[in-house]
Amino acid sequence: MNKNVRKAVIAGNWKMNKTRPEAKALLEELKPMVADIKNVEVVACVPFTNLETALAVTEGTNIKIGAENCHFEKSGAFTGEISADMLAEMGVEYVVLGHSERRQYFAETDETVNKRTIAALAAGLKPIVCVGELLWERECNITEEVIARQIKLDFFGISADDLKKCIIAYEPVWAIGTGKTATADQAEEVCAFIRATLAKLYSAEVAEAVTIQYGGSMNAANAAELVSKTNVDGGLIGGASLKAADFTTIINAAENG
Ligand code: PGA
Repeated sequence: MNKNVRKAVIAGNWKMNKTRPEAKALLEELKPMVADIKNVEVVACVPFTNLETALAVTEGTNIKIGAENCHFEKSGAFTGEISADMLAEMGVEYVVLGHSERRQYFAETDETVNKRTIAALAAGLKPIVCVGELLWERECNITEEVIARQIKLDFFGISADDLKKCIIAYEPVWAIGTGKTATADQAEEVCAFIRATLAKLYSAEVAEAVTIQYGGSMNAANAAELVSKTNVDGGLIGGASLKAADFTTIINAAENG
């Protein structure tokens, strides 16, 4: 395993939080705190309504901006949806896709995650594709089957070159927003399994190049141990990304890890 070929990516997933003034305040606070970060890609994935503000506040800094979803069609009669091209035109770089909250509450399937990933790549965005098992699936000992199925379906038809532009976030559903973090060993086990699955589907070289994050109650206290693992290349951070100090501690853990 060669962690050195991959840059750690710490991405905040703000979910449905922050008005524009609140978003501006959080990013203004964060900017100086992460200004010297060199080895970690710092990303804030924010609600659509905050994108323009976030892009303006972070212009010329090392903080990259992402959206939290996009639709798979280029344009048309899809009331309430946002296309990948609309995001790319704004200067958005990243987009979270297939988050378990979207799968759970908004009927997203692996098929639509696959279509969204293809659309995002076509628009030049870097998708952060989330996969993860339910607690019941882990208890039934089918975590690897669930993850392999998601990887195969979510990336179906995606070329090796395009896969390298994607980030995969391993987010066990039972760990999201629950305060129950996967242990570092559990995170490493599944992230390594994802890499092995990519090696089979693509090649060892491609698998080594893909950034695989852990997400799920990652915080200032547990981040260092999680990101120290060979196959854990950073994190997708929900709650803890809403506080500049906590988010910075996590970023520093990845920078120094
Ligand atoms: P959490 O969320 O850090 O609040 O558990 C993670 C995520 O949903 O990406």
